[in-house]
Amino acid sequence: MNITYFGHSCFSVEVNGKTLLFDPFISPNELAKSINVNSVKADYILISHGHEDHIADAVSIAKRTKAKVICNWEINVWLGKQGVENIHPMNTGGKVKLDFGNVKCVAAQHSSSMPDGTYGGNPMGFVVEGGDVNFYYAGDTALSYEMKLIGDYRKINFAFLPIGDNFTMGVDNAIIASDFINCGDVIGMHYDTFGYIVIDKEEAKNKFKRAGKNLTLMNIGETIEK
Ligand code: NI
Ligand code: MN
Repeated sequence: MNITYFGHSCFSVEVNGKTLLFDPFISPNELAKSINVNSVKADYILISHGHEDHIADAVSIAKRTKAKVICNWEINVWLGKQGVENIHPMNTGGKVKLDFGNVKCVAAQHSSSMPDGTYGGNPMGFVVEGGDVNFYYAGDTALSYEMKLIGDYRKINFAFLPIGDNFTMGVDNAIIASDFINCGDVIGMHYDTFGYIVIDKEEAKNKFKRAGKNLTLMNIGETIEK
């Protein structure tokens, strides 16, 4: 699976020939100036919750690419009002079979309102089952015992976890989360974008290493293979 980082919590992952784009927040991100948002590809756009730093470019990318948006019911209603037509509404606990594999919506401990203040439903994470490889995209979340259910449910090959602290769990709790999901291969997200969440990246990687785990911190624009 090729994974490309667009800054903050925005990644694309190629799964069985389809491009899944998570939480598009690119054009307002000072750190992602090198990315041309009009060149970002997507067959599916997965949105974890309604906050601006996860949805800012969702409408424009959805309209340009005609990608199918996967999100909760309330975000689906909001996107519909912005003229987005290709949406698959879901909610926590639900799973859907799509042409690349399955997506299961899992709990996230956070909040969710839309950029205009309207109610955004509950925040979610996603477990993507790609056949041979499964991964977990946590969204914005605190450490939660619910994550043990994810580790029991499926073999997770790698996971996107927030590590910036302040609004989500930080590095120490992300290490515990990786125990809960039984996956020691973590890609960090939700750090450095704003002053509140600037972290010491070397220290973060060393903490994971000392715990016998791997933390990958991608450069914006970089593509890696998993
Ligand atoms: Ni948030
Ligand atoms: Mn956020």
